[in-house]
Amino acid sequence: MQVAIDGPASAGKSTVSKIVAERLSFIYIDTGAMYRAVTLLAIERGVALSDEESITTLAKAIIIDFRLIDGVQHIYINQIDRTDDIRTPEVAANVSAVSAIAGVREQMVALQRNLAGEHDVVMDGRDIGTTVLPNAKVKIFLTASVESRAKRRQEDFQSKGINLALAQLEQDISARDYKDSHRAISPLKKAHDAVEIDTTNMTISDVVEAIIAVVKKNQ
Ligand code: C5P
Repeated sequence: MQVAIDGPASAGKSTVSKIVAERLSFIYIDTGAMYRAVTLLAIERGVALSDEESITTLAKAIIIDFRLIDGVQHIYINQIDRTDDIRTPEVAANVSAVSAIAGVREQMVALQRNLAGEHDVVMDGRDIGTTVLPNAKVKIFLTASVESRAKRRQEDFQSKGINLALAQLEQDISARDYKDSHRAISPLKKAHDAVEIDTTNMTISDVVEAIIAVVKKNQ
């Protein structure tokens, strides 16, 4: 069974997807982390973001695997744990440019489909219901106001000791959403058969229950 969860930046996708996957005993696949991984390596290796050919070569060679350690999902990039490194403001600011490259998307989508072919999955991202798993039995589109998404992101960073202004975060999130929804290849878009959930005034557990209810209805 495939559960596709899409939506704009910081709508709470990964938090609720993880819990939904745990509840269903499915594997959780965070596709945003995969694009962040390619972006991190490109920055570290000094590859210009405009150099699509070199970034595509990098995406073809990257080894990404997710490992569950003490109940927390870690991302290993080329065998090294880079879980925190992919979440920096610098990676967030550059990931939309990297994820818009055709060769990068081709590689990542192939990896994602392989993973989904082997397990029951909850997969979150931007194009899961529209492109990666168009036949997913359950498709959810999670949204929330920009203000509430910026607030959540601010709290996430605060818990890691990074203080960022709310106005700046709102601007960053809106800019990333704009780029993700206006790119040429598989832009962020609600699939026609997705169930939309506006999480602005919902708790995490409300959202989890709402998604589980959709899954049960379709099982
Ligand atoms: O979900 P997260 O915020 O970690 O995603 C980071 C970025 O990766 C997004 O802003 C988008 O540019 C890209 N992405 C994508 N397609 C996906 C998942 C993420 O293009 N399926």
